Amino acid sequence: MVFPEYRPRRMRQNEAFRSLVRETRLASSQLIYPLFVQPGKGKRDQISSMPGVFRLTVDQLAQEAGECRELGVGGVILFGLPEKKDPMGSGAHNRDGIIQRAIKELKNKSPELLVSTDVCLCEYTDHGHCGVILEGEVDNDTTIEILARTALSHAQAGADMVAPSDMMDGRVAEIRQALDENNFSNIPIMSYAVKYASAFYGPFRDAADCAPQHGDRRGYQMDPANCREALREATLDVDEGADILMVKPALAYLDIISRLRDEFDLPIAAYQVSGEYAMIKAAAEKGWLDEEKVMQESLLSIRRAGADIILTYFAKDMARLLKG
Ligand code: PBG
Repeated sequence: MVFPEYRPRRMRQNEAFRSLVRETRLASSQLIYPLFVQPGKGKRDQISSMPGVFRLTVDQLAQEAGECRELGVGGVILFGLPEKKDPMGSGAHNRDGIIQRAIKELKNKSPELLVSTDVCLCEYTDHGHCGVILEGEVDNDTTIEILARTALSHAQAGADMVAPSDMMDGRVAEIRQALDENNFSNIPIMSYAVKYASAFYGPFRDAADCAPQHGDRRGYQMDPANCREALREATLDVDEGADILMVKPALAYLDIISRLRDEFDLPIAAYQVSGEYAMIKAAAEKGWLDEEKVMQESLLSIRRAGADIILTYFAKDMARLLKG
């Protein structure tokens, strides 16, 4: 059946046909919106490299949560800016820390909203690395104990799901054990299983004030050149008890999302990171790209590659568009 018998354009002739044969769709319930929480009261500071994204004080969260629920956004993920940083990142597991307070406020005001937390030390260490430094190196096994305490403190504050983003070895198992031993066996782990050492995190590091003071993250985050290693990382996290596997960043790693989709049966998440958002925003501001269309196309591509869940700063905008 070749031309002129078969004409692919038949199925593209109008929106009714296009919609009938469309293979991939976006749903608001599959989008997770990142929130940055800062100390203080009554503040809502726009992040300069991420137009439309704000650092919020705890009292500003209820309104944000209400908006997300109204739009049908799948949930939020929290990032904290602590009052004080120290070498051990101890602010991360403080019972009364910024994230722990934010969780309580959100679950209090919007109990049905799914609240996930980013579990990492980089926002809490004064040196900006994702773990504790011993003898000049980020020490894996000391760090995962602190990460487990951090995840537990989030669960105790009422978080629905924890998402470790540090890329230490063995942290999923350590967190799973800490949660299970403390009666939180029902709390899922969304693992940043495949996280690359990417330059696309630039704007986030401004937002969360967590750029490493010396060196970089290539000693623990993955080399952008590697794909087979991504499968090994994901296999380890599955074996350690991960419930959702995440790939990060998204757009430059669609092949990795697709490979994971083929090889694993767990839900796959992808993080459209700060730099991906900033690129689209900046080009749109200049009038070089149509923001709405590029937002839609980029998110759709991430879904088509195989992601079930997308973490994105566009979550509210996209949900608004879907609502019509
Ligand atoms: C680490 C973390 C980072 C991001 C999410 N969690 C930054 C990093 O690894 O440097 C990046 C998110 C983004 O760029 O949007 N806690």
